[in-house]
Amino acid sequence: MASLLTNSLVERKEEIITRVGLEERRSITTNLEKVKSIIKKYNGEKRWLISILLDIQAEYNFLPKDALIMVANHLDMLLTDVYSVATFYKVFSLKPRGKHLVSVCLGTACHVRGGGRIADKIKQELKIDVGETTEDGQFTLETVRCLGCCATGPIVVIDNDYNSQVSLKKIGKILNKYRRGDNS
Ligand code: FES
Repeated sequence: MASLLTNSLVERKEEIITRVGLEERRSITTNLEKVKSIIKKYNGEKRWLISILLDIQAEYNFLPKDALIMVANHLDMLLTDVYSVATFYKVFSLKPRGKHLVSVCLGTACHVRGGGRIADKIKQELKIDVGETTEDGQFTLETVRCLGCCATGPIVVIDNDYNSQVSLKKIGKILNKYRRGDNS
């Protein structure tokens, strides 16, 4: 009886492992199909490398390693060359990012207007540190040095939206817009 039970548990475990493996393979294939169509959109031409990487990043919120390998193969480039572009521009991330990127300016002007306290409050609200992503994959927090609009600091940029003269009181309201998805 005990051995029957053990055998059936082993079979069940194997079935789950196979299913998870298939799911994973399916999702990887789907993802790479998207990458393939992005490359195709630019006729697989090297001169469009940055646009291709931007589109991939827009799709995944970061640049997955598999995608970079595919780009290198299709554009007939060395993977190291693709990586050097991907790491040169700050807009690209090789680490998974949340749906929304929150950038708090800690340049001198924003700093003297309380940028540090703003960053701390956002960390508290999102329960993450700088460079981290919330568990639900909604937000990634980063700090930046001067966004060129010092007179209206402190500045917090979420995705491409500039929030100026941000106060501690405003933070919850600003983040809630993105939590609810009514930021457009
Ligand atoms: S220091 Fe923040 S925008 Fe310049």
